[in-house]
Amino acid sequence: MAPSLPKATTLLSWFFYLIPVYLFVLAPLFQFIFPEWDNSRAAGGNNNELGGYNYEDGIDDYEGEYSTPLHLADDRFISLEDDVPFECPEQEGRYKVHIFSRVPLVIYIEGFLSEDEAEHLVRVSEGKYAPSIIYDGVSERVDPSVRRSDRALLDRDDVVRCLEERARSFQGWRPGMYIERMWAQRYNVSGHYQNHYDWTGNLRAGGDRVSTFMVYLQADCTGGGTNFPRMKMPREKKWCRFLECDEEGKGEEGHAAKEVGGVTFKPIKGNAIFWENLRADGTGYPETWHAALPVTSGSKVGLNIWSWYQPPRRTKGKN
Ligand SMILES: *[C@@H]1O[C@H](CO)[C@@H](O)[C@H](O)[C@H]1NC(C)=O
Repeated sequence: MAPSLPKATTLLSWFFYLIPVYLFVLAPLFQFIFPEWDNSRAAGGNNNELGGYNYEDGIDDYEGEYSTPLHLADDRFISLEDDVPFECPEQEGRYKVHIFSRVPLVIYIEGFLSEDEAEHLVRVSEGKYAPSIIYDGVSERVDPSVRRSDRALLDRDDVVRCLEERARSFQGWRPGMYIERMWAQRYNVSGHYQNHYDWTGNLRAGGDRVSTFMVYLQADCTGGGTNFPRMKMPREKKWCRFLECDEEGKGEEGHAAKEVGGVTFKPIKGNAIFWENLRADGTGYPETWHAALPVTSGSKVGLNIWSWYQPPRRTKGKN
């Protein structure tokens, strides 16, 4: 006798049990694991998938007041473009670029800083370090379980000013873009920063970090890679110069990188990863979720160069 199939009515009742299971268990769980995924995908699909510089388009209809204005006149936060003269080295701009991804735009930059520049920044940051903070949307606090490193605000000397200008130039001197004051980040053994976004999603409300340069100033360490769990490993083995690859999985570092998945950039002195945080419509890319993996020996000094974009304010009489 053939095994009896469940009756149609039984199947139907199973189906009705599954609906609440999906609605109240699976869907919230998915939302919890990928909080930004749904929203940002839905919002980003419409225009300019190739990534343009059209943030202005997205905010054209925004009429309200900006609730959290950037303190653009505040030179403790923003590197204002002023008339202070500075000199840049002859080697200026002799870096090599490799496009890692087009959407989101991720560019690997070899030799973004010269050895001299990197060493200078490490030197001037010494003696200025204090524990790094995290901002949870409400307040700032120190939490070594999430982020364990020390940071130092860099004075705007010639090297820093040249770097600010290099970052502006790299991005085509975009209007409405401002470079945040730079901080060196020092990671000792077990220093790390858990997965996070550099963007907040508040572009319309006043401004957001449109892009990030993650620069390595000192990399006398094992571990300490920059991991993007949602990015895909490229197929070309030439990338293994800059990335933790499977073949190197024998070593401790490769092993750690393998466990976290995605793509892990090795810390290499003077090199930088550049990526755009926001789509053309101002929503954040979920793929930019990243972490500083724990340093397993030695120490690492990194430098973040963050570019803010603030929508131009409409002034009466213009246009
Ligand atoms: C890192 O090492 C320095 C020098 O030994 C020390 O002063 C600092 O507190 C350490 N930072 C962390 C986060 O452990």
